[in-house]
Amino acid sequence: MTEITISASILSADFANLTDQIRQAESAGVDWIHIDVMDGSFVPNITMGPFIVETIHRITHLPLDVHLMIDNPDRHIEAFAQAGATNLTVHIENTPNIHRTLQMIESLGCHPCIALNPGTPANRLEAILPYVDMILVMTVNPGFSGQKHISAMVTKVAQVQAMISSLDRAPRIEVDGGINAANLPVLVKAGANTIVSATSVFKYPGGIAAGVQALRSSVA
Ligand code: DX5
Ligand code: ZN
Repeated sequence: MTEITISASILSADFANLTDQIRQAESAGVDWIHIDVMDGSFVPNITMGPFIVETIHRITHLPLDVHLMIDNPDRHIEAFAQAGATNLTVHIENTPNIHRTLQMIESLGCHPCIALNPGTPANRLEAILPYVDMILVMTVNPGFSGQKHISAMVTKVAQVQAMISSLDRAPRIEVDGGINAANLPVLVKAGANTIVSATSVFKYPGGIAAGVQALRSSVA
């Protein structure tokens, strides 16, 4: 059985019953809660800010995997760290002083993580690999849950896996976007070990527990 970490994205949760949805995800055995922060500028959608992270931090003891899809992330990192973020993921495409940003995240006690959009090549990572705890390979263009997975991204996952194989301390490889039990095995085989999912957890037809089980058994 391949061990995977499942990070459940609340973007597809029922916000009118958020506590209950998170309790169900906990009982189903998800490992992390993924919080998608969008600003209507870097991505077309607007979602959640530090206030929501702080609220979820009070609901659950699970690690909070905070995915920042915002311009000028440096301005907001401290607020997200104080709100209880465990991982803080910034995008390489809009973070000009990326080394400084990653150091800032680490100095605030969070795991520094970097995300690549589908159009961004893996080699953009080269100079910063030693400074990240996780690389997020986006498998859809960021902005919305429920999009179709871009299967060509499996090649990028394999390229990232090859790039990190010589490091002393290998960062995790996370995938995010349109993940389901059908497309997960090939991504895991390529090197992904951390899986974000909104739809296949919170909108799974058989319920949250069955959704998590379907993801885990696809790579068993
Ligand atoms: C998309 C977000 C994802 C999203 C995934 O921009 O980064 O985390 O919630 O949703 P699904 O799993 O439905 O593609
Ligand atoms: Zn995300």
